[in-house]
Amino acid sequence: MKIKKRSWAEPFKIKVVEPLKMTSKEDRIKSITLAGYNTFLLKSEDVYIDLLTDSGTSAMSDYQWAGMMLGDEAYAGSKNYYYLEDNVKKYYGFKYLVPTHQGRGAEHLVSKILIKPGDYIPGNMYFTTTRLHQELAGGTFVDVIIDEAHDPENEHPFKGNIDIKKLDKLVKEVGAKKIPYISVAATVNMAGGQPISMQNIREVKEYCDRQKIKMWCDATRAVENAYFIKIREKGYADKSIEEILLEMCTYFEGIWVSAKKDCLVNIGGFFATRNKKVFEEGRNLVVVYEGLHTYGGLAGRDMEAMARGIEEMVQLDHIKARIGQVEYIGNLLLKAKIPIVKPIGGHAIFLNAKKFLPHIPQIQFPAQTLAAEIYIDSGVRSMERGIVSAGRNKVTGDHNYPKLELVRLTFPRRVYTQAHMDVTYESICEVYDKRKSIKGLKMIYEPKYLRFFQARFERLK
Ligand code: F0G
Repeated sequence: MKIKKRSWAEPFKIKVVEPLKMTSKEDRIKSITLAGYNTFLLKSEDVYIDLLTDSGTSAMSDYQWAGMMLGDEAYAGSKNYYYLEDNVKKYYGFKYLVPTHQGRGAEHLVSKILIKPGDYIPGNMYFTTTRLHQELAGGTFVDVIIDEAHDPENEHPFKGNIDIKKLDKLVKEVGAKKIPYISVAATVNMAGGQPISMQNIREVKEYCDRQKIKMWCDATRAVENAYFIKIREKGYADKSIEEILLEMCTYFEGIWVSAKKDCLVNIGGFFATRNKKVFEEGRNLVVVYEGLHTYGGLAGRDMEAMARGIEEMVQLDHIKARIGQVEYIGNLLLKAKIPIVKPIGGHAIFLNAKKFLPHIPQIQFPAQTLAAEIYIDSGVRSMERGIVSAGRNKVTGDHNYPKLELVRLTFPRRVYTQAHMDVTYESICEVYDKRKSIKGLKMIYEPKYLRFFQARFERLK
């Protein structure tokens, strides 16, 4: 047989394994009922393939584990902090670093420093914790992503792009003075892990410079974004991931990062900036909320693992295999005509629950239902990204009804094999085959903040 193309394979081999518990369908029905049909409330022990999130779930390399032994656990001035600072400067290009325990710690500080009550923060779709911190600081989030991002079928290669007309409309309505910064995510998690193009970042930058609006970036998955720029955007095919990431960062005054994603660690985050005043305020506030400015709630060994993870995250073989795995299962699902968000995103596959379960109205939580159903079928854990995640309207108290009602299957980095992808694919096909018999849910408990983490449901009769 003539081989047309060579497959990629993981650029690592497995040295340590973690056994998985196999469960029966009866076990799983019991577990999900106890968990109130919320996959966040399952015990991880009862999960077979855990695709809940790519956050903090990566496998660290031997190089990172070796670094853990070099943790300098001094209260102040740990050498691991200085190494991390060097690598943030080298790979992201920012002079000033404030470490935090994870991404939302950084979001909290940045929001507190930059936002005044009554301000507006435009962004390319929201992320749950990001928007909440902006709101807690007194701001109002305004979505300025292109319309294509809200359409799961649209195959725009850069669905994370910002619609400058929408941004301009907001500026005209409220005035640039009420907009402390634009919050640019790369990639956009809630849109399906979709990237923003370099050209769009550049155009938004020109607009913002004219209006004197600052640009800040949620660079949590900026490496994945850089990979999409490399393969999809004209002029970047021959540039390295390192070069693309650095160029992206030049357009921003600062970034915040959940290091639990791109940076290949189980815990950690930071914000970094070129603005000395913002840094000084952040360095002061971090002491109040996280820990001293040279550890920000992290152990020295965590900072060492992060610094080393940053070196590994930009390696082309790594990011190609990471996104290649997501594309592998995505393409299987597309071939089977399972409705997923297109194009296939960076960190996850998003099932379109509105199309998968069209007989279940949004108020009966189709995505929540589908995630529970997949778990019952095979022990694969996914999560809801729809009406439950969208929360309630601050003014009316009614549910927000997002256009996208999705189930996210999120892929930890360097953890699962292609065979795990096959099993997941088979399970989704099986649930799809019996979709008409699936009934929706009723919410029976709802916490005040980020309700999707702890809400409980019952099956409708
Ligand atoms: N920004 C983005 C784009 C994220 O995806 C996350 C977390 C955060 C900020 C907050 O970071 O969790 O370290 O505090 N996303 C996780 C997820 C929880 O599953 O997508 P964190």
